[in-house]
Amino acid sequence: MASRVRVRAYSSSANLGPGFDALALAHTSFYDEVEAWIEPGTGGVMIEAVYGPYASGAGGAETARRAVEALLELTSSRLEEERIVLKVYKGVPPGLGLGSSGASAAAAAKAAALLLGLDAGTELLIEAAGRGEAAAAGSPHYDNVAASLLGGLAVVAPDREGRLYASRIDIDAWVTVYVPRVRVQTAAKTKLMREILPEKVALGTAARNWARLALLVAAAARGDLRLLGIMMMQDEIIEPVRQKYVPCFTEVKRAALDAGALGVAISGAGPSVIAVSRDERTARNVAEALLDSCACCDPDIVKVAHVAPGASQV
Ligand code: HSE
Repeated sequence: MASRVRVRAYSSSANLGPGFDALALAHTSFYDEVEAWIEPGTGGVMIEAVYGPYASGAGGAETARRAVEALLELTSSRLEEERIVLKVYKGVPPGLGLGSSGASAAAAAKAAALLLGLDAGTELLIEAAGRGEAAAAGSPHYDNVAASLLGGLAVVAPDREGRLYASRIDIDAWVTVYVPRVRVQTAAKTKLMREILPEKVALGTAARNWARLALLVAAAARGDLRLLGIMMMQDEIIEPVRQKYVPCFTEVKRAALDAGALGVAISGAGPSVIAVSRDERTARNVAEALLDSCACCDPDIVKVAHVAPGASQV
């Protein structure tokens, strides 16, 4: 059992086109850190401080606290005369589809597991962090937390009893993250972006989409970024509905592809956009194109980053 731990977890982009709620790519664009320690108390989890550039944004501390509470519950851990104290560094901007609440929850769950010396498997940590993230997102979806916990391209799915399974694929890719200046301003953005989605999908459409997702995952496993990029742009169900909320999505996508990106998709529930490139130079060219030469692009933030490792002690 450690006396004090500090864990970093990175930002992530969920869905990558056809992988709605099934996968997310962790990237080093931004990170959160959670420091955790134990002190005398009457049980429970307390936030001592939230700091960093996005400390005042929605939800980070609450997701961290709830993730640790969920972990304690899932592992039947009892704290009688002690409590867990958390200090949260919020470096992932919230409300942009970059897995901000997922990163806080992942860092907190991992930190608490290390602190208590819990033998918590990956899926259990994902479950705990997902329950924590539900505090901010309105419902638990596990893609962002899986990516922040595992790193790389994380794939997650429940079985028919609701038990989670997850796997990580290492990919060597660079990304350019584009955040538009004009965007839907609401604390419940993810909830809203889920409410606009169709409740039912025709079998033929679903079948085409999951075939593309399967191919995307196979391409990632083989390191075939060209095929991954093509499949990223074939979603017929989610992105066509959400792209209305991403200003100039078509122009941003065109500019990124013209600059050499292999695939472009809305990052999670948006409004950020992620472009995947084979190397850093191309990813920087994509960033330049979005900053300078695209007449329609109006970026608030443009970041170039690499695929990130999983949550770990720093
Ligand atoms: N898969 C989720 C969604 C991620 O697209 O709603 C939310 O960031």
